[in-house]
Amino acid sequence: MGLFVDLAVHLSIWLLALPAHLLDFLGLWEPLAMLLFPHLFVKLAVDYHAALHSCKKELFSCLPDFAGPSGRLKVLELGCGPGSNFPFYPRGAKVTCTDANPHFQEYLRKSQAENDHLHFEPNLVAPAENLSEVDDASVEVVVSTAVLCSVNSVEKALKEVLRILKPGGAYFFVEHVCADPSTWTYIFQKIYDPAWKNIFGGCNLCRETWKDLEKAPFSEMKLQHIRAPLPLQPTAPHIIGYAIK
Ligand SMILES: C[S@@+](CC[C@H](N)C(=O)[O-])C[C@H]1O[C@@H](n2cnc3c(N)ncnc32)[C@H](O)[C@@H]1O
Repeated sequence: MGLFVDLAVHLSIWLLALPAHLLDFLGLWEPLAMLLFPHLFVKLAVDYHAALHSCKKELFSCLPDFAGPSGRLKVLELGCGPGSNFPFYPRGAKVTCTDANPHFQEYLRKSQAENDHLHFEPNLVAPAENLSEVDDASVEVVVSTAVLCSVNSVEKALKEVLRILKPGGAYFFVEHVCADPSTWTYIFQKIYDPAWKNIFGGCNLCRETWKDLEKAPFSEMKLQHIRAPLPLQPTAPHIIGYAIK
């Protein structure tokens, strides 16, 4: 039964992508995709979030280790979308939410109201590659989950992460990545990638994001390759961990 549901999902992706390709060709797709993607994401990401719940819970349990001497913990989240990570953040943390897409704000504000254990700074609509409104060395922690797959430049986004982190601060990531080329998942990723990008807000299935992280000048990194329990899903292979400035 699960297999048939997955195949139906994959077939729907192909069918959904046909008009998107046409609109993209005419230069009309990007603004429409920005508008539609938040509504699609909140509906379709339920299983995805459930599959990663326990891994995220474990990873984020060490966020308090990075609090400053007064116990202050300033967290900046890149591409926070509807704000699904807030329940994992420790009580009293000051959180700045950033995202390139302004159309997530309605969902984001709802999630912020539901997570009153946190203090929220004003939301920033800004790309991860240019966070000029955020001061150098001003936050203890930066978080991204399922964002580096969509940014235009992973290298520029990581440069910004290193700029805004305090020395000793940490960048926490949970990102889906390119599969091992010897697997069926890799073949599925290559087949779906062009359609996937158009439907899911510019998301690339085949990024080897761990290579960008390894190249960036962090002082220390804990990075694990895991497979999220999402059968036949091209977004199953993940990297998860944190890198210290
Ligand atoms: C797949 S959603 C993930 C949302 C959220 N991080 C989560 O885990 O539920 C990808 C998010 O990245 C955002 N995004 C895409 N490109 C971006 C960029 N260049 N800078 C910042 N955010 C970006 C999208 O608007 C969207 O909110």
